[in-house]
Amino acid sequence: MDPLAALAEFEQAALAAIAAATNAPALEQVRIEFLGKKQGRLKDLQSLLGKATPEQRPVLGKRFNDVKEAVTAALEAKLTSVAKPAVAATAIDLTLPGTPIELGRLHPITQTVREFQGIMARFGFEVVDGPELEDEWHNFDGLNIPLEHPARDPLDNFYLAAACTATGEPMLLRSQTSMLLRSQTSNVQIRVMEQRKPAPVRIISVGRVYRPDDIDATHHVMFHQLEGLMIGPDVTMASLKSVLRMFAAAYLGGDSEVRFRPSFFPFTEPSVEVDVRWKDRWLELGGAGMVDPNVLTAVGYDPEQVTGFAFGLGIARFCMLRHGIDDIRLFYQNDVRFLRQF
Ligand code: PHE
Repeated sequence: MDPLAALAEFEQAALAAIAAATNAPALEQVRIEFLGKKQGRLKDLQSLLGKATPEQRPVLGKRFNDVKEAVTAALEAKLTSVAKPAVAATAIDLTLPGTPIELGRLHPITQTVREFQGIMARFGFEVVDGPELEDEWHNFDGLNIPLEHPARDPLDNFYLAAACTATGEPMLLRSQTSMLLRSQTSNVQIRVMEQRKPAPVRIISVGRVYRPDDIDATHHVMFHQLEGLMIGPDVTMASLKSVLRMFAAAYLGGDSEVRFRPSFFPFTEPSVEVDVRWKDRWLELGGAGMVDPNVLTAVGYDPEQVTGFAFGLGIARFCMLRHGIDDIRLFYQNDVRFLRQF
């Protein structure tokens, strides 16, 4: 047969076979049949080349190479096209590593709060909650803090600039109706006693309080307090000190020493500052005292019948001590590199 005609026939047959093949194994069969090194049909054609006359040879050689290239290219193109749908059909590769799910965790302050609640619950204190947005009665008046008291200074509190009533009228009578972000958790004392008989009362409340302050390593405009209140027929300063000592021991461990220093709060009498011994120094924890008779009267209790103690401790300091944190701002920057350590 004429070598050129043989090449043309080879090309046609190979391209038809490639077009007919629908998957990779079939294409491999086609490749072996037409281009196979040992017995492929192209190999037979190569021997024809040897028999060509010297004039025919250059034309034939070029044609041979063109056909070989064309068939090879068609084969490769078809191979990639049949490979694609096969991959799509089995797209779930169970051996891939997957996208790891990042687990969240509780904020260190939240962890401390939960631990405090657990400790105090074991001592029989019920955990209650109170509003952060408070009226002046519960934040000040009920706590025996008179109108002219410096603690009520607008510069030392976050009063709401334009609180409105439900009907849209502005609330103007500051002494009766102004709202503020509470400056202390002691508002919860008033809210609890208003609602309950002194039968006895034994509660704690943990939450945020707000005071305008320059923010630095130890101050923030928002921080957390633990408020405690116990009312009963014969609650004394000794009860207060025992509870605080047991609390400090439960959190800090060992036989924690607690000391009182004389102080003043309008809502307690006598009032004290509470310190705890940590390693070889005394650390301030907060304020405490015996509930002032004026406060008991304000909520309808009879100061002749019941007495009580109250305390208010800062939370962050405990957490900072335990973890060796030296800057309170770290708690509120939400940097995961910090947070994921706890
Ligand atoms: N409320 C006081 C403060 O914010 C702390 C305190 C609470 C003192 C209860 C006495 C009794 O500093």
